[in-house]
Amino acid sequence: MSFSAEWESRYLKIGGMSQWPWSDLVSLCKRHIRGETAGLKVLELGCAAGANVPLFLSLGVDYHAMEGSPSMVADLLARFPALRGKVTTGDFTREIAFPGPFDMIVDRSSLTHNGASAIADCLRLVRAKMKPGAKYIGIDWFSLAHSDAALGKSAEDAFTRTSFPSGLFHDVGRVHFSDRAHLTELFRDFTMESLEHKVSERLLPGPGSVHATWNLVASKPGDAP
Ligand SMILES: C[S@@+](CC[C@H](N)C(=O)[O-])C[C@H]1O[C@@H](n2cnc3c(N)ncnc32)[C@H](O)[C@@H]1O
Repeated sequence: MSFSAEWESRYLKIGGMSQWPWSDLVSLCKRHIRGETAGLKVLELGCAAGANVPLFLSLGVDYHAMEGSPSMVADLLARFPALRGKVTTGDFTREIAFPGPFDMIVDRSSLTHNGASAIADCLRLVRAKMKPGAKYIGIDWFSLAHSDAALGKSAEDAFTRTSFPSGLFHDVGRVHFSDRAHLTELFRDFTMESLEHKVSERLLPGPGSVHATWNLVASKPGDAP
């Protein structure tokens, strides 16, 4: 599998991630989904404990998700049994387990934990299952401007690092850091509709650090049906 087993070990050690929807994801989805949301077919890549599930259920969408961590999928399905058959364990860089076509793909900081060629494979796979005009909403893809982008060890390509000795990326396997040109190349078969670079400087507690991420919305060319 492309993603590292580190995520499952981390979840077993420290428990799940946030169970609150991520605010940037809420804002971008609200901005980019217009009109009736009931029945829209949505695929989330890397749903972990399902932080974003309540948002999508409240919108009435037909929610699907793939996640590499079996314990997170079991946890999510215990809390949302109605999603049985719609949330599955698997590597989304190898295969998309559900038939399309999807109206929207959502990914908060998940695909950015893979290497460049796996990311390109996943984008090709999801694009094939998107309706024309469907949107890929990517939140918190790590930026090369992040102060941890030089830490750890170089992995399979110039943008991917692993084995971080400490900090935010300790024990999470691969981390992919992008600049604008690299994102443009990865999404060359999409239309980039929105691209935001978020940079914040943490002063305290020290030592200081810079947290830098990308939020993007890319659509599959073609008119929405
Ligand atoms: C930083 S966490 C984000 C979780 C969730 N999106 C959130 O925002 O709370 C990254 C998640 O992506 C999953 N992941 C990364 N690469 C994956 C892959 N190739 N296939 C399936 N899951 C993957 C990890 O298991 C992990 O749960």
